[in-house]
Amino acid sequence: MMRCDVLTLFPSMVESVLNTSMLSLAQEKGLLDVTVTDIRSFAHDRHRTADDRPYGGGAGMVLKPEPILEAVDSVCARHPDARIVMTSPRGRQFDQACAQSMSEDSRRLVFICGHYEGIDERVRTVMAAEGREVDEVSIGDYVLTGGELAALVMIDASVRLIPGVLGDAESVKEESFSGALLEYEQYTRPVEFRAARVPDVLLSGDHGAIREWRHRSSLASTYARRPDLLKEGALAQGDQLILADIQQKERAENSDSPRRLSS
Ligand code: ADE
Repeated sequence: MMRCDVLTLFPSMVESVLNTSMLSLAQEKGLLDVTVTDIRSFAHDRHRTADDRPYGGGAGMVLKPEPILEAVDSVCARHPDARIVMTSPRGRQFDQACAQSMSEDSRRLVFICGHYEGIDERVRTVMAAEGREVDEVSIGDYVLTGGELAALVMIDASVRLIPGVLGDAESVKEESFSGALLEYEQYTRPVEFRAARVPDVLLSGDHGAIREWRHRSSLASTYARRPDLLKEGALAQGDQLILADIQQKERAENSDSPRRLSS
């Protein structure tokens, strides 16, 4: 069970994704509980102002500290041990290990979604001074218009790791990044499509051979697309032999091709 709060200026953006597909199903199954809160509801002036111009000048608007901190206070009054997550391109980068940790965290996760040019720095410094740990997390080296999509990415990647969210427990175990390898190639019907056939071994019913083929496919795919994942002695000795064979076949194919072209 994952419990989250999302503090945002655009609650409908977050709710529309949460009410769709697996995230909606996870809530129905009681495996995910999310409260979406409009930061503006903690702004007390007549216009419910949540942002203002930056001191020192410059483009854009900055989110004011008071409404965000009041929203955080209101969650923490009910859940004192909540884990605060600030979505920000300057944060540490979210990855599968981070998703795993979020999916297993018994604390409430409170996502603060920034917008416009950023959040007044005192949101972070005041929370730190109050002894509240703040986890600044980025989903990648690019800048989004706001933290909502980032929070949803983190929630989505974490929720699907909770046992029972996906129908088939195996589908988490065998996929990309659970081990350090990318996923093997997948095929479905028809057996032949535009002269491209499904590999015979997958039709053989020989489960041992299929497992072996898939493992080799994973290694080959990782070697071709993300060789960085195979560095630093990441592979068991058996896998090193398979990889050496994949590399040798690749070299043979490359040296074959000029001959094939000229014949
Ligand atoms: N807000 C804007 N860009 C972001 C990113 N890359 N990750 C997390 N939050 C963001």
